[in-house]
Parts: sequence; structure tokens; C-alpha cells
Amino acid sequence: MLELDNIHSYYGKSHVLEGVSLHVDAGELVTLLGRNGAGKTTTLKSIMGLVDTRRGHITFEGHDVTGQQPFHIARRGVALVPEHRGIFSILTVEENLKISVRRGSRWQLEDIYQWFPRLKERRRNSGNALSGGEQQMLAIARALLNDPRILLLDEPTEGLAPVIIDEIVKILAAIRKEGLPVLLVEQNLRVCEAVADRHYILEQGQVVYHGSADDFQADPSIRDRYLALSA
Ligand SMILES: Nc1ncnc2c1ncn2[C@@H]1O[C@H](COP(=O)(O)OP(=O)(O)O)[C@@H](O)[C@H]1O
Ligand SMILES: [Mg+2]
Repeated sequence: MLELDNIHSYYGKSHVLEGVSLHVDAGELVTLLGRNGAGKTTTLKSIMGLVDTRRGHITFEGHDVTGQQPFHIARRGVALVPEHRGIFSILTVEENLKISVRRGSRWQLEDIYQWFPRLKERRRNSGNALSGGEQQMLAIARALLNDPRILLLDEPTEGLAPVIIDEIVKILAAIRKEGLPVLLVEQNLRVCEAVADRHYILEQGQVVYHGSADDFQADPSIRDRYLALSA
């Protein structure tokens, strides 16, 4: 449903993605792994039309969206939850959620409170009173209320305590069970292995590995070779 075919993306003269191809099929949760600076965020930004993609094609649900304006791509149902969360800190949790509700969305406020009981507890708190984990939950919740057709998540567990990471993992598993496709950028292998159907590894703007969750787990040499991380 989402396909990147040999894309080359640039910041000015800086050639960052050098022929990235990947795809996310209906109902899949796919991770994009790789060291800092590999080009993971740039890949998500390319999908959203936020960086200059000069070669290759990005197709979403059969439409070529390469080079389209970000708002067109968002309107097709591509939702990015960026690394730095972008919570409106002057609003309460509930106000933040209410401004994101879309009429006819498959997810409404009550559904969100069921999935994120912590947000319900905190609904009268202002955004800037939230912990990092709660802000991340609020950012994901807001994206869901917009009724996306695919969710792009950039390092949702970065810097969070293990107990909060477990909550995010549960939410990711619930999203996957609902059949909403997800492209997840993540450095925490435990999170990836808990929820993903397939993995891609990016290195210096190129895909250097692609495999099913089972293949990846069965061959620990892959993570030694490409990732400066442990499970
Ligand atoms: N706005 C920018 N302008 C110029 N170069 C950038 C910009 N953002 C990222 N880069 C460069 O692009 C490369 C990939 O960055 P990024 O996609 O953020 O990596 P990752 O998300 O995998 O850590 C890095 O070398 C980074 O320095
Ligand atoms: Mg990044």
C-alpha cells in the first residue's frame, strides 16, 4: 500500500538517501532500523513530501505522491508522528485530543481513552505537565483521531523508561491488531522484535538488510554487523 522505489533525497546539495526501496503492505507493521544519521528520519520526511526527493517514486495506495505537497500527502491519510512529538503545551490533554478528532473517524475520544487509560487519567492536565512517555502517547493518540490510513512513527520510545516502553509496545500491538499499517523507526530492538512483521536496516542512506521478523531473530550476526545495539 506504501512503496518507495529507489528514492534519492537531498538537503540542498547533500545527497542523503541513495536509492531507498521499501514497502509496507496492508495491515503490516514494518520497522526501519539503523544507526544515528543513517537516514531513517529522512525516509519518513521523504514519504511526507518534506524533503526534496529528486529520483525514484513514492506510491501510496496506487497514487504516485512523489514531490507532492505535504498537505496533499497528509490528506491521503499518511500520518507522521515526529521525533519531537509536537504537543501543544498550552492545551490540556483532552483539548489536544478534541482538536484532532475527525468526524466519521473510526477512532473517537472514547476509543482513545480505552487504549490509553493514562491519558484519560491525565485529561485535565496541560500538555507541558506530561512526562515524555505521556507526551508520546498523546502524539500517537492525536494521529489516530485523524483517522490515518498509515502511521509513520519516528523513535516513539526514545528516552523513555522501560515500564512506559512496555505501554507503548502494547499500544503498537493494538494498532497492528486493528490492521492499521505502521512504518516504525526504532532503535530499541526489544520493541521491534515484539511488534514487527518485517524489518529494514538503513546504512548511509541505503537499505543494507531486509527480512522477516523470524529471519532477523534467527540470525544474531545481522544486528552485530549493522546495529550498534543490543536486544
Ligand atoms: N535538515 C538537514 N539538513 C542537512 N542535513 C541533514 C538535515 N537533517 C538530517 N541531515 C543529515 O542527513 C543524514 C541522515 O539524517 P537522519 O535522516 O536524521 O538520520 P537518522 O534519523 O537515521 O538518525 C545525516 O547525515 C544528517 O546529518
Ligand atoms: Mg532520526
